[in-house]
Amino acid sequence: MCGIVGYVGPRSSMDVLVAGLARLEYRGYDSAGVAVVSENDGLVSQKRAGKLAVLRDDVDAHPLASGGTGIAHTRWATHGAPTDANAHPHLADGGKLALIHNGIIENFHELREELIASGEQFLSETDSEVAAILLAHAFRETGDLTTAMQQVVKRLEGAFTLLVVHADKPGVVVGARRNSPLVIGVGEGENFLGSDVAAFVAFTHKALSLGQDQIVTLTESAIDVITFDGEEVHPPEFTVDWDASAADKGGWSSFMAKEISEEPEAVANTIRGRLSSEGQVVIPELEALDVGRIDRVIFIACGTAAYAAMLGAYAMEKWSGIPVTVELSHEFRYREPVVGPGTLVVSVSQSGETMDTLMAVRFANDAGAQTLAICNTQGATIPRESTATVYTHAGPEVAVASTKAFLSQAVAVYLLGLYLGQHRKVVSAEVAASIAKDLHALPEQIQEMVETGPRIKELAGWMADTRSVLYLGRHVGYPVALEGALKLKELAYIHAEGFAAGELKHGPIALIEPGQIVFVIVPSPRDPSSLHSKVVSNIQEIRARGARVIAIAEKGDAAVLPYADEVITIPPASPFMEPLLAVVPLHIFGMELAGAKGLDIDQPRNLAKSVTVE
Ligand code: M6R
Repeated sequence: MCGIVGYVGPRSSMDVLVAGLARLEYRGYDSAGVAVVSENDGLVSQKRAGKLAVLRDDVDAHPLASGGTGIAHTRWATHGAPTDANAHPHLADGGKLALIHNGIIENFHELREELIASGEQFLSETDSEVAAILLAHAFRETGDLTTAMQQVVKRLEGAFTLLVVHADKPGVVVGARRNSPLVIGVGEGENFLGSDVAAFVAFTHKALSLGQDQIVTLTESAIDVITFDGEEVHPPEFTVDWDASAADKGGWSSFMAKEISEEPEAVANTIRGRLSSEGQVVIPELEALDVGRIDRVIFIACGTAAYAAMLGAYAMEKWSGIPVTVELSHEFRYREPVVGPGTLVVSVSQSGETMDTLMAVRFANDAGAQTLAICNTQGATIPRESTATVYTHAGPEVAVASTKAFLSQAVAVYLLGLYLGQHRKVVSAEVAASIAKDLHALPEQIQEMVETGPRIKELAGWMADTRSVLYLGRHVGYPVALEGALKLKELAYIHAEGFAAGELKHGPIALIEPGQIVFVIVPSPRDPSSLHSKVVSNIQEIRARGARVIAIAEKGDAAVLPYADEVITIPPASPFMEPLLAVVPLHIFGMELAGAKGLDIDQPRNLAKSVTVE
């Protein structure tokens, strides 16, 4: 969850570190800190509770050091409240050693007791400080930061990325990772470390991804990587395919507003080069799979990514004829499912770092399943550990609330479904061509939905005092209802629930009282499954009990008009494309309602973009 940056090189390290933290602040934003080591000044550091701006103002007013080697951190609290003392870096060895940590050290309590018994004093309530003190002990014994790190990581259980600097070793940063991300940025006469490439993409596009249980020793001119057991490693290099400006707000009021505006382009990028107009799917990355062997697909994902998977799964099962299920990653793993080489376990994750999903992927790998990652972030851990990866190419998503990633993930699953259907020869050329036509038309139709922004803003304006909102959908409208409700919860802190409309009469209808706001995702009246009339009946049932209905329905759907208080229209589209249009106003609604309540849109309370703890 926390953001980590490290730098060795000739630039002003404070500038590099603070710029890196600014790009990583979406990972955690309850406190921030830096430590810089130079020949002249030794180790200097500062850390402050609150958002990065508090630290930035502080170091602007009282500059720390201009050159040197540095590490910096932005925190998402696990152990101990967000205070100055609990912020990172943690110092040890009389203030000569500084450490930052992302993850959770599960055996910290016993280590802390042991260190207290040996006379050590703790200044924070964090689990991280034990690693700082252990490193100080090991450094005193060995005189070498890398060897000290090797000794300490063997004593730690849980998940960690650690970076350490020491006043006696100017020009060196040592990092280690287990179950938590760390990426290396390769420069000319300078090198970088980051929780993800956003930390250094303004300076270099060349990157190496550090593997599980590896230690990196970084200087200006060298990057040495070893395993925890000391074996030399050469991590794979990759090029970051987006520009630093892609992770800037670019004049938008929030990252979320920018990312919603990028929804059409994100979908176009996911499809680009992978789908001919005749409907042929070409995804060379899938050649690593033994497709002929697949007799079952299980999606694993969390939050919005799980809803994207649910949506895509409807299409995949229909087009491929393969049984498809979707599970929350954290539930999947602990029920010990029966999987084998015929099972394709598909993880869906924007960040590629979600710990629950990573652990589920590892479980699937160990159980002998084939694993496929649908991911947006290069250099992330889940792709590294999967049999194959399909990148969504949606561009960096910075706002904590996921928007363009949802659309690109669902579309990637559609492509995969069509690919499997073609491989198994269950999709006719005619059907494939028609799906391709629909998919290629999507970006323009999504743009039409993005343009509903001002109307949705008006709706949100008069709902700022609302205490509860319900969302109803059926079939592919159901994951859209879940996604709409999740956005409202996380952004506007309003109680919101998404229901399968058919479930209403089995309990939730008791919630309907006069004035209750209910969004209803209405399938097209042209839908051959006759769900349209069933959903219109649901609308009548809730209207009869005094609910205020906001319908998202196809343009010209006359059956809805008499019963809805508001209708947001979507352009005519095929049943599998409609949900990708209906979701856009719900993304906008969550954002605008948060805006109307004066809340922080990009950094909602208690959340972080990349959830790297279980
Ligand atoms: O990076 P991932 O796609 O694995 O993240 C999964 C969820 O944590 C994420 O989608 C979360 O639900 C979003 N904040 C929802 O907007």
